[in-house]
Amino acid sequence: MIHDKMQQAVNEQINAELYSSYLYLSMTSFFYSINLPGFANWMRVQTQEELVHAMKFYDYLVSRGGRVILKPVEGVPTSWESPLAAFEDAYKHELKVTGLINKLVDLAI
Ligand SMILES: [Fe+2]
Repeated sequence: MIHDKMQQAVNEQINAELYSSYLYLSMTSFFYSINLPGFANWMRVQTQEELVHAMKFYDYLVSRGGRVILKPVEGVPTSWESPLAAFEDAYKHELKVTGLINKLVDLAI
């Protein structure tokens, strides 16, 4: 059985991955709206990838006898000043989520 503290942290990571997916889906919509379907498609692929990440943590928690608790996913921005601004936001967000993963590793150790 997984420790309560670890279970809570993995649940928070699931929420962060779902937020990432939601954010990139919003960016997908933004790119469609400014007639950049290639960018939209690329961001749509990232949306799916983040869902896969969330499900990996989800399945891990279940496999360890833990309980997945889904919390509300925070609202995401809906538009950006430019395509570059959107990608800069995505980059910043990736750095943040990587930091969360590193904290999760530290906790696990
Ligand atoms: Fe992710």
